[in-house]
Amino acid sequence: MTLLARSSPRAALAASSSSLTRSALSAATRRSLSSKAAPTLAPAATTSSSSSSSSRSATASSPLNAPTRSLATHATSSPSSSKGPTGVLLMNMGGPATLPEVGDFLSRLFHDRDLIQLPWQKRLAPLIAARRTPKIVEQYRKIGGGSPILRWSRLQGEEMCKLLDEIHPETAPHKPYVAFRYARPLTEEALDEMARDGVQRAVAFTQYPQYSCSTTGSNLNELYREIMRRQERGAPEGNIEWSVIDRWPTHEGLVEAFTQRVKDVLNTYDPSIRPTVPIMFSAHSLPMQIVSGRGDPYPAEVAATVNAVMGRLGWSNPYRVTWQSQVGPSAWLGPQTSDTVKGWAKQGYKDAVVVPIAFTQDHIETLYELDLELAEEAEEHGMKLKRAESLNDHPLFIKALADIAAAHLDSVYGGGVHDKTGEVAQTATTGQVFAWNQGRTSRQMQIRCPGCSNAVCGSQKAFFGQGQVGVGEDLMRGIGGQE
Ligand code: FES
Repeated sequence: MTLLARSSPRAALAASSSSLTRSALSAATRRSLSSKAAPTLAPAATTSSSSSSSSRSATASSPLNAPTRSLATHATSSPSSSKGPTGVLLMNMGGPATLPEVGDFLSRLFHDRDLIQLPWQKRLAPLIAARRTPKIVEQYRKIGGGSPILRWSRLQGEEMCKLLDEIHPETAPHKPYVAFRYARPLTEEALDEMARDGVQRAVAFTQYPQYSCSTTGSNLNELYREIMRRQERGAPEGNIEWSVIDRWPTHEGLVEAFTQRVKDVLNTYDPSIRPTVPIMFSAHSLPMQIVSGRGDPYPAEVAATVNAVMGRLGWSNPYRVTWQSQVGPSAWLGPQTSDTVKGWAKQGYKDAVVVPIAFTQDHIETLYELDLELAEEAEEHGMKLKRAESLNDHPLFIKALADIAAAHLDSVYGGGVHDKTGEVAQTATTGQVFAWNQGRTSRQMQIRCPGCSNAVCGSQKAFFGQGQVGVGEDLMRGIGGQE
């Protein structure tokens, strides 16, 4: 993913989805990996313990949940009247599962005005996508012929829902659906599937722990648009009752899963050097136009995750938050992950650990950018990198997903969060309040970025936050509305 607001056609050619764009844009200046050896990066050991550190995060039954006004767009059904499974829609940008799907993936990405705004976008997007496709196909070929993100998403969703049925039986059965922004299954396909299953109640659960309007925001805007289309044609799935888990950067199960992945790598070093090995927590960068100009919350939320993980590690090692996938000539959030490697190599460091802190599944940013490009770059500078394994099927991570969803559903529908014996361990009135258990959306999701000029954001927030204090106030004053 690459996240630009307004760009010239020239800039558009220089900016898009991470490695997707970089290779095509600056082919002349980048090394050709095709003739080089396989990566030397040593993956972390896969010792995922399943210790129970998950949170029983329940919520406060707060005024946030009190209805204040009614919009005509929402169906209002109670849990007891609901038929069909409770849908859990896992949202992500996705990736092409096969090489022939790369072109369509890029085309959708460049058409996304929530992500990048180009002049003559409808005409430019297919041209840019076509130009980039061969290079990106080559990158996907190098990681096995496609992105594994759908496989991981399905596995995570299925395992999460099994746990969810046990710890929040009031809304069982739960069924996972996947909605990718740029690859199949798309949002419309997920809604078709939900319609076939008779879903009347669903949770839109972002798979980005840290919120950005360029990622989760784009997914939610697309979901909102698709719901509106279905309402217009009178389709029953236009009246699904929705709530949203929009961020979960500090959930203790997530933090513990990351911590274990980091420990697994650190434990491969000799104890004599272990505490001196620096850690790079690498997240996808953003243009400063989005960070400073628009006021996107993503950098602060990434930092919150890193701070929590380092705290759990007992501040055992020196570390930095670094940012990968920068493209184009404009200013981006830094330091870049690759520059960090070069800088530390210059300072004499021979080893470093890189942790993908904003990705919970393997995809091209981990398997290609970190495992191939970065590892090779590090080696050229005399440094050996080891990467913490992605969370993928880590049992603690799966449990964290279920805990987050259960606490969220409890905050919307009640019923408590149950322990293994079936007893209610916490309820919405006894637990700590987090972003994911504040009712239909987090309080933080209710406000638009100070520099936001996208009217769909206001409409989307008003729709999903219906019934909560403060949601959609700008819409009500006539500032919001569809583009
Ligand atoms: Fe952040 Fe619109 S860009 S709310």
